[in-house]
Amino acid sequence: MGEMMIPGTVGSVPSDTEVDARVEALLERMSLEEKIGQLTQIGGASWNQGPKPEDVIRKGGAGSVLWLNDTQQFNLLQKIAVEESPSKIPLLFALDVIHGYRTIFPVPLAMASSWDPAVAERAQTVAAREARAAGLHWTFGPMLDIARDARWGRIVEGAGEDPYLGAAMAAAQVNGFQGPFLGAPDRVVACAKHFAGYGAAEGGRDYDPVYLSEAQLRNVYFPPFEAAVKAGVGTFMSAYMDLNNVPASGNRFLLSDVLRGEWGFKGFVVSDAMAIGNLVIQGFARDGRDAAMRALSAGLNMDMASNTYPQHLAGLVKDGTLALADIDAAVRPILAIKVRMGLFEHPYIDESKLEQVVALPEHRKEARNAAQRSMVLLRNEGHLLPLSGSLKNVAVIGPLADSMEATEGSWMVFGHTPAAVTVLEGIRTRLPGAKVEYAPGPEIRRDIASWFDNEMDASAKKVPQTPEQAEVAFQTAVVTARNADVIVMVLGENANMAGEAASRASLDLPGRQEELLKAVSVLGKPVVLVLLNGRPLSITWAAENVPAILEAWEPGSQGGHAIADILFGDVNPGGKLPVTFPRKGSHAPLYYARNLTHSPEGSPMYNPRYWDGLPTPLYPFGYGLSYTTFSITNLTVAAERVKVGGSVAVTAEVTNTGPVVGDEIVQLYIHQKAGSDSRPMRELKGFERLTLKPGETRTVTFTLGPAELGYWSTNAGRWIQDAEAFDVWVGADSTATLHADLVVGR
Ligand code: NOJ
Repeated sequence: MGEMMIPGTVGSVPSDTEVDARVEALLERMSLEEKIGQLTQIGGASWNQGPKPEDVIRKGGAGSVLWLNDTQQFNLLQKIAVEESPSKIPLLFALDVIHGYRTIFPVPLAMASSWDPAVAERAQTVAAREARAAGLHWTFGPMLDIARDARWGRIVEGAGEDPYLGAAMAAAQVNGFQGPFLGAPDRVVACAKHFAGYGAAEGGRDYDPVYLSEAQLRNVYFPPFEAAVKAGVGTFMSAYMDLNNVPASGNRFLLSDVLRGEWGFKGFVVSDAMAIGNLVIQGFARDGRDAAMRALSAGLNMDMASNTYPQHLAGLVKDGTLALADIDAAVRPILAIKVRMGLFEHPYIDESKLEQVVALPEHRKEARNAAQRSMVLLRNEGHLLPLSGSLKNVAVIGPLADSMEATEGSWMVFGHTPAAVTVLEGIRTRLPGAKVEYAPGPEIRRDIASWFDNEMDASAKKVPQTPEQAEVAFQTAVVTARNADVIVMVLGENANMAGEAASRASLDLPGRQEELLKAVSVLGKPVVLVLLNGRPLSITWAAENVPAILEAWEPGSQGGHAIADILFGDVNPGGKLPVTFPRKGSHAPLYYARNLTHSPEGSPMYNPRYWDGLPTPLYPFGYGLSYTTFSITNLTVAAERVKVGGSVAVTAEVTNTGPVVGDEIVQLYIHQKAGSDSRPMRELKGFERLTLKPGETRTVTFTLGPAELGYWSTNAGRWIQDAEAFDVWVGADSTATLHADLVVGR
């Protein structure tokens, strides 16, 4: 995609020395209060309590504003900052632009299902361009938390369960948001969050504490964050919860030792919202003053909205508890980013450009392409899909079939009104001459609304259906389905059922959806299930009884078109699962890279793991079907032995053995058979998505070197590479059986 220049956002690349000199010159003329202002992020939303943002900014009391999405207002506040505040330092406007600004892309979990980092990079390039045209400088993304517990609502915001795939998606998103350098035109600063371990909340309950060994942190939870640092991410956000009894926002090990000491991160760290104030609630800090002191000295630069830094830092410096040098050190990277972003030269945004930029047809095209590449075909008995484009009578059934919210998905940009092509609209557009009847069936709702639902989402305030109304809706849906030749069921979760404060104990289809699916399935008509959801669902009944299932996730504003493209065979689905699908919510956390105790599941002696049902995945990590078939053969490891520190090539041949062009995602897994520590029974160490014509064969080549074969060892207390034997598998998912041996020697 070509670069598009928007006046007012064009940056140039100053050298590091130039940036440093400008930062020092600024620091010299700033008062202590102004410096603390730079460490303060204030909320711009109307529901925000406290002093008016204008007044705080005029005094130099804020470095950044969040929870505001109003281009005119940005310019007004910026004018106060650069004309009226003492040192005239521009503000950074920040918002959660997670999967698109106005053109909404598939949710991050969906984009990870593409196993195509270029998809995520292009999506975030578009998101950045639109957000920057609106006047935003900084997004709170990408979310890089590894999530192995499908009950955790925020699994939707990340790349799933695997550190290798997660790291690839992390780098791609940072590149998309930021472009080739910090301050590149039409880009925004990215923020790697939530550092670290947030996805391992106990019981999948959002915000609950996390206990992870150093080995788990370093081998599993850190790699996407380190990849973001390598990609040049400008900022980090500390997580909310306690990590091994130390709150992440007061955690020196995370914020100083690892992030800066080991990885050399030069940007700044913002807390999560209110997190510095929370240090008191967490039973860590004695009071606000102690919280400010401990957060700052742990390495946390900017206080997001808790008002703790502005209240206490000055006192801490004045009585000598903190040195002025500590404050200066915290302020420097914030000023440096403002310099690099060119904000001193171009503080304002051209208000006339936004509507042009968000309407660019290439943005919609990218969103549709991303959605197509993100979808995963879970089942297709008897080649029910693709459907014929000459169908005359289709029923589209389910509470999400015409829901813009569910199509765009969780984490909508603050103040954004959904404007999505729903599945119903997508199918109607694809079948212009056909009768396409729609019935939603009973509505679905959260049992308990979240704070977000109450504050921001009007749907939570809608009067619920009565049981009688729900029954009428149920029966109407069955009748509508009975009259059709093909039934497309669109089921899953509302947008507010995954995301922040949206964890669940069950992974079942909420409400009466499964009951409706069963009622429709006995009508003797072909049934296709399209899932719109932000997490794995335990669709065990459907997996055995519904012939065709398409996991469409929350596919974004072009989602309905992309789904129709796949249902009618204009596009062959090629995505694969970035998360394991458990059979039940109570099986979570469930992931493929587990350590073995006995022989694998299936061995008679030590099974079953549970006596009340199979503990195996409903669908394994890496799984997904296509309208064509593939064979993967001729696995070759270039040398049977490789020296510690050396690299070896692994190749395999992939052939499209079916009738149509299609994509296969070839995956490489390893297992270390013995060593200083036990290692997971499989770990992903390479993947490639290829498009092959019928009959075409291609060779894929992977490299196994120290980065893939080494690990952080509990016994050694450091990164090591053992001289040991390995299994190597290459295949189409994490159950691949094509095997080779590899020995690492001295
Ligand atoms: C809290 C969330 O945890 C975080 O991800 C988000 O960026 C901030 N709120 C700001 O909206």
